[in-house]
Amino acid sequence: MPSYLLPNLPQLLFLSFLFTTLRTATSAPSNSWYWYNCSITSNFTTHSTYKSDLQLLLSSLSSAAIPTGFSTQSNGRSPNQVFGSALCRGDVSQDECQYCLSTAVQDILQLCPLSRRGAIWYLKCFLRYSSSNFTSSKDNETSRFRRFSYKTQNASEPFSAALLGNLMTDLIERAAYRSARLFATGEVNMTSSETLYGLVQCTRDQSEDDCHQCLQRSVNIMSTYFPRSIEAVTMAYNCFMGHATYSFYNQSVGAAPPPPPAPEVDPGAPPPRGKDSGKKNVALVIPLVSVLGVLSAIFICSWRRRTFLKVSRKYCIRPV
Ligand SMILES: *[C@@H]1O[C@H](CO)[C@@H](O)[C@H](O)[C@H]1NC(C)=O
Ligand SMILES: *[C@@H]1O[C@H](CO)[C@@H](O)[C@H](O)[C@H]1NC(C)=O
Ligand SMILES: *[C@@H]1O[C@H](CO)[C@@H](O)[C@H](O)[C@H]1NC(C)=O
Ligand SMILES: *[C@@H]1O[C@H](CO)[C@@H](O)[C@H](O)[C@H]1NC(C)=O
Ligand SMILES: *[C@@H]1O[C@H](CO)[C@@H](O)[C@H](O)[C@H]1NC(C)=O
Ligand SMILES: *[C@@H]1O[C@H](CO)[C@@H](O)[C@H](O)[C@H]1NC(C)=O
Ligand SMILES: *[C@@H]1O[C@H](CO)[C@@H](O)[C@H](O)[C@H]1NC(C)=O
Repeated sequence: MPSYLLPNLPQLLFLSFLFTTLRTATSAPSNSWYWYNCSITSNFTTHSTYKSDLQLLLSSLSSAAIPTGFSTQSNGRSPNQVFGSALCRGDVSQDECQYCLSTAVQDILQLCPLSRRGAIWYLKCFLRYSSSNFTSSKDNETSRFRRFSYKTQNASEPFSAALLGNLMTDLIERAAYRSARLFATGEVNMTSSETLYGLVQCTRDQSEDDCHQCLQRSVNIMSTYFPRSIEAVTMAYNCFMGHATYSFYNQSVGAAPPPPPAPEVDPGAPPPRGKDSGKKNVALVIPLVSVLGVLSAIFICSWRRRTFLKVSRKYCIRPV
């Protein structure tokens, strides 16, 4: 452990205990955010209409997104009108989606306390708001794409950048043109024992071509900056892309249809209801999670500001 972490050891131990507990309680993997960005030149004032409109928008946005995985809404009247969108990764359950987005709402209000525009990315969801209507706007500004690689080591043979490129080309075609949710996952065998896993997704407020373009830019960024990284993600305002040498998503969602192409499940249809066995546990888990959530918020907030950025830069992830 790097020496600068030592003064924070008690907090770290507490946090790891907490996340282990949360993880078993909700079976959700760590939910810590990966990146956020807010306007610092354009602020609203505390107690303003914008602030109350924003708070209302964010909570209604996340509830609206849970059933389908995506929502875009607005609230208030000009000049205080606020626009927002929320996206969950295509393979996560509604419980995971809800957990991720409620964390996102808390975090963004805390991280961007006065910003008129803000966005926050996690591995399982994305939340964004702005004082202007960004619906259908395509963000082709590559400087606004963020890339992270967790493993600094380069893959040894037989990892092949070409194999990764082919996988991604296939996935982005499928997500943009053959998936109503603009989402696709897939695997490719590197050897008989090693597999490469990929996932791509776009926000659903854009055309198929814009989705394809956003993902193609992500592929280009990845092949420029992390050509041999065995684990990396690219996060943008309109799309998400990730790969790893282990399975990090639910493989039964977003996979390619079997060879005689089966009709795709209609994503507009209400999600399956066969989740009753899970519901019982949720009633027990939610109060526990709320208490732990409040405790963790207190700890994370005092801890994160000082340490997280430093740690993330040096230790966990490598923003470029
Ligand atoms: C961060 O947000 C600001 C304000 O919304 C925007 O001007 C800037 O381009 C964003 N930066 C990135 C890297 O997305
Ligand atoms: C806006 O708010 C942020 C965070 O509170 C602060 O750092 C920044 O200086 C403010 N910007 C302006 C222009 O007031
Ligand atoms: C925002 O823009 C989209 C696309 O241009 C449009 O369909 C939508 O009605 C706008 N929303 C509002 C609240 O003006
Ligand atoms: C982004 O799109 C706009 C309008 O569609 C275009 O004018 C601009 O040149 C594009 N920028 C890049 C970097 O492709
Ligand atoms: C990984 O490969 C890239 C490009 O091939 C190189 O720039 C980088 O130094 C390598 N990193 C390590 C840790 O070997
Ligand atoms: C990858 O290997 C597994 C196990 O050897 C096999 O079942 C699977 O069909 C292979 N997948 C592809 C895409 O070749
Ligand atoms: C994967 O997704 C399927 C279909 O939505 C679901 O039935 C299954 O429980 C999920 N598996 C995991 C491990 O979440």
